[in-house]
Amino acid sequence: MYWSIALSSIALVPPSNALVRFHCSQLVTQRLDPLVNPGMIPSTHVHQIVGGDSFNATMDPKKDMPGESTCTSCQFVDDFSNYWTAILYFRARNGTYKRVPQLGNNQFRDANGGLTVYYMQDAIYLPNQTSPVTAFKPGFRMLIGDVQARTLEQASRFRQLTYTCLDTFVTRSPETIAFPKRRCTEGIMTSLRFPTCWDGKNLDSPDHISHMSYPETGTFESGGPCPASHPVRTAQVMFEVVWDTKPFNELEWPEDGSNPFVWSFGDATGYANHADYVFGWRDDSLQRILDTPGCHFMTNCSVESRSKLQSVEEMNRCTQKPVIDEDIDGWLPELPGGYQAEYGPSSI
Ligand SMILES: *[C@@H]1O[C@H](CO)[C@@H](O)[C@H](O)[C@H]1NC(C)=O
Ligand SMILES: *[C@@H]1O[C@H](CO)[C@@H](O)[C@H](O)[C@H]1NC(C)=O
Ligand SMILES: *[C@@H]1O[C@H](CO)[C@@H](O)[C@H](O)[C@H]1NC(C)=O
Ligand SMILES: *[C@@H]1O[C@H](CO)[C@@H](O)[C@H](O)[C@H]1NC(C)=O
Repeated sequence: MYWSIALSSIALVPPSNALVRFHCSQLVTQRLDPLVNPGMIPSTHVHQIVGGDSFNATMDPKKDMPGESTCTSCQFVDDFSNYWTAILYFRARNGTYKRVPQLGNNQFRDANGGLTVYYMQDAIYLPNQTSPVTAFKPGFRMLIGDVQARTLEQASRFRQLTYTCLDTFVTRSPETIAFPKRRCTEGIMTSLRFPTCWDGKNLDSPDHISHMSYPETGTFESGGPCPASHPVRTAQVMFEVVWDTKPFNELEWPEDGSNPFVWSFGDATGYANHADYVFGWRDDSLQRILDTPGCHFMTNCSVESRSKLQSVEEMNRCTQKPVIDEDIDGWLPELPGGYQAEYGPSSI
């Protein structure tokens, strides 16, 4: 009797198959980095940050991000996480730099810049996501990529931190590890994918990477198993960021054919593409979404999981005033923080 009840209740549970994709507008763009340079005002280089407005120079793991935020720039009202990346600059022939603005992504064109976030169970964009995943815990944070990387070999330590040259606004391939070498009609998209295996114990680690791992064999794409050291399978967090390089296509580019786009810390190769994540969802709201049958992109993710969505206008209204008073937008003789463009051995 016991068994028949147990089995029939299992049979009634529909398979969870969630792939959620949503947008977050720009919260603030400034030199702060609570993961790598906690408490440092200003931090080394400029970032663009989205999410809950409790973001500041220090993000103690015990910080109550939903409790201390008054709003979030993300579409799910329960998501007070912070997501951030460096920003791009264009380097003119005369050696000055101009910030490359961001655009709202496809389906979120009215958003004020920011980035699109995915939480994926499987590495397919179809609704049949089948692998159960565990949501992150309060205080969890991680980063991916290496600001020092200037060669393909150094970048190869990471999987799938890529660039897409947008011939149209919805171009999604090919993806490259270096900056695109040609003028991209609609801009450049960066896609940043985090590892998916957690050690199950540590909310962070000294390098902010090693408490996470890629699958031991195969990849997230091939469904490879997590290693024994990092046995807990999490959702794959992915960011898509659209950089509006279009206005710079009309300007003169370097005579030697080198790429004119430079990360805010000077990398002109593109190999130092990196991203940061501090988990801050309210209660178990992320797990509920990941357990929602039929949740795909934005369809069916909100109702059954009881997670509310806000409008793009509301997302755009959630902003922070920069605490660092410096010009990041003019034609600048050097990048904020004193960086100059750095070309790796093979960037020309
Ligand atoms: C950051 O927020 C915490 C509260 O979580 C606060 O105690 C601290 O003073 C803030 N730091 C800065 C630099 O604003
Ligand atoms: C450098 O070049 C840019 C782009 O052509 C131009 O807008 C800017 O005024 C120039 N700056 C100087 C100091 O010549
Ligand atoms: C997902 O569905 C597609 C077609 O609907 C199928 O080709 C693919 O094999 C399925 N993938 C998995 C992992 O079930
Ligand atoms: C959304 O959920 C409903 C009811 O569970 C289902 O009939 C529908 O097929 C789902 N839509 C998608 C796109 O999965």
